Amino acid sequence: MPIDLNPVDKAKFVAAKRATQYVQSGMKVGLGTGSTAAWLVKCLGEMVRNEGLKIKGVPTSSRTAALAREVGIEVISLDEAKWLDVTIDGADEFDPYLNLIKGGGGAHLQEKIVATASDQMVVITDASKSVEMLGAFPLPLEVIPFGWQTTKTIVEEALIGMDVMGRDVTLRMNGDAPYITDEGNHILDLHLKRIGNARQLSLVMNQIPGVVENGLFIDICDAVVIGYGDGRVEVRDINAGSVEETKFDFLGEDNIFGKVGD
Ligand code: 5RP
Repeated sequence: MPIDLNPVDKAKFVAAKRATQYVQSGMKVGLGTGSTAAWLVKCLGEMVRNEGLKIKGVPTSSRTAALAREVGIEVISLDEAKWLDVTIDGADEFDPYLNLIKGGGGAHLQEKIVATASDQMVVITDASKSVEMLGAFPLPLEVIPFGWQTTKTIVEEALIGMDVMGRDVTLRMNGDAPYITDEGNHILDLHLKRIGNARQLSLVMNQIPGVVENGLFIDICDAVVIGYGDGRVEVRDINAGSVEETKFDFLGEDNIFGKVGD
């Protein structure tokens, strides 16, 4: 792997590397989706191949499943695992209470099921995802294709009564066609700018027929590992209420970039 990664990738990498400390042999591990989670999967794969780490991974998307198999991680389904020790995933936004917006990568349905079925959920991220209040990032809603335009209208009407700053709703596209999730659904992106009451919004959205799941993760995340481009890592833990800082030396002889991603 080239050592001259850009600062954002360095930040994502050191966050993923630090988060491997949550994983021990014998664990069943939820594997997130996205560019940050991909670093984690590569780091864990390296530990499986070179350090004898024995884990079973439950991927949160077909993309992550393919990568996990490629790097040597044993992949099982959530139904086989039943319950997980830890899930490690990225996020699009996190607030001071570690509530999240997820689904920028279109996988929040499986991600939420897997994270909820875990003793612990750890988010890995760079500092750009930190916000005082959720909502600048569009909130994804996974909706079934049947009658999606009617569902969109009902969502727009429901937003009128919500404490949000914007109310534009768009269908996520993949080129000229609607984006299709792993579950065969579409995604509506809600451009809310600011979400005043995330818990209420999550409940209201999930009550609308046709909505499968929204991308708000409320009271699910236990810790956020924030990486910085200079190798610093900060851990915010909701249970311990602690803030821990370490620094990885990726320019030294035993640089942590090692062979990950080769
Ligand atoms: C996918 C997600 C991702 O975790 C989120 O979009 C962050 O992705 P990245 O690590 O690439 O910034 O929720 O559905």
